[in-house]
Amino acid sequence: MQLDLARTLYATPPTGVILVSTIDKDQRNNIAPFAWWIVVSKEPPLIALSIKPATNTYRIIKSSGEYVIGLPEPKLLDTVYASAKLDKEPDEFGKLGLQALPASRIKPPRIKECQVNIECRYHDEIACGDHMLVIGEVLAVDVREDILSDDDSTLRANLKPLGHLTKNKFLTMQGNILEASEPGAGKE
Ligand SMILES: Cc1cc2nc3c(=O)[nH]c(=O)nc-3n(C[C@H](O)[C@H](O)[C@H](O)COP(=O)(O)O)c2cc1C
Repeated sequence: MQLDLARTLYATPPTGVILVSTIDKDQRNNIAPFAWWIVVSKEPPLIALSIKPATNTYRIIKSSGEYVIGLPEPKLLDTVYASAKLDKEPDEFGKLGLQALPASRIKPPRIKECQVNIECRYHDEIACGDHMLVIGEVLAVDVREDILSDDDSTLRANLKPLGHLTKNKFLTMQGNILEASEPGAGKE
């Protein structure tokens, strides 16, 4: 059955929401949630975010060139949702009950409550319809101790992403590890 094209997004799997932390020229912290994002290069590590140009986040990234991507877990649901409604508050960390930690390479703070914080520097952007695809170079990645693992598959499986369905509806995304058999394995 053909779906109305305006619903294209809802025929694709949800992505884990991030909180983007920035600092504007008046030294105000800004935090906002984004769901449209993806790693687009391994070497150098680059991450693309699809951001509406009218947002404070986009404007600040364009002027400061620096931002932190934090990965919140499902228990931060209400905080994540509330962060979308803030507009130029003098203290968005305080308002949201989040704790700011210094980043290692850039000025905007990390978010203590996030499982992972990724420090990024603006690299490039591409106009994409009603959004801008903002590409950032990863400068540092901080992973909370309880998530950390030497094994990459375990590290990823330890993450508890908060998937976004639509409006104020979210879903948990942590699942079981499945291991595929190598093609031809077991045959003579
Ligand atoms: C769960 C969730 C995911 C969102 N994802 C995006 C996104 O990927 N891109 C975008 O431009 N806006 C997204 N938004 C909307 C922005 O968060 C919203 O415009 C916010 O007010 C921007 O804040 P700012 O002006 O402080 O940057 C999302 C909102 C929510 C609640």
